[in-house]
Amino acid sequence: MEAYHLTEEDIPEIYGLETLCFPDPWSQKGLRDTLRESSSCFLGVRENDTLCGYLNATWVLDEININRICTHPAFRRRGVATVLITKLKDFCRLRGIDSMFLEVRESNASARAFYTRMGFEEIGCRPNFYENPAEDAVLMARSSHQ
Ligand SMILES: CC(C)(COP(=O)(O)OP(=O)(O)OC[C@H]1O[C@@H](n2cnc3c(N)ncnc32)[C@H](O)[C@@H]1OP(=O)(O)O)[C@@H](O)C(=O)NCCC(=O)NCCS
Repeated sequence: MEAYHLTEEDIPEIYGLETLCFPDPWSQKGLRDTLRESSSCFLGVRENDTLCGYLNATWVLDEININRICTHPAFRRRGVATVLITKLKDFCRLRGIDSMFLEVRESNASARAFYTRMGFEEIGCRPNFYENPAEDAVLMARSSHQ
């Protein structure tokens, strides 16, 4: 399993994953606009011909924020998201990006367990960060050099 950089051709499939994995999926237009930003990274993992996971992260100087990461429900607990994070770490090192950040819903126990396993630590809380439903975000971070 290997992660690679996604392009605009992948947008319909990314959108498919968004609708399967998130209650508030990004639109195809939103995905296209984000893909066209110069400081935006889209990584995907395919198995056979199926896009089974993807992540988006955007960076400013030496800090990157993971905005989205998801694995198709039929492919979970098989290391897909781990491959995505590993590829992102490589990407960060190449670009001199030292720190990785993310927000996660307080109630999202599986994602929090995954991030902890990936070496992220909780560094704070953003009250009412999310809408629909309103919820606090846990802020997590790790170095990209470990
Ligand atoms: C969180 C998510 C991306 C993990 O994807 P994944 O491909 O299943 O993750 P991996 O197989 O690489 O998991 C690696 C490790 O993380 C931990 N982990 C992953 N999912 C877990 C879960 N549901 N419960 C507990 N630990 C979990 C485990 O330690 C796992 O290793 P193990 O399977 O050997 O025990 C996936 O569950 C998902 O898409 N969730 C819905 C979208 C979402 O909430 N995204 C995050 C928004 S902030």
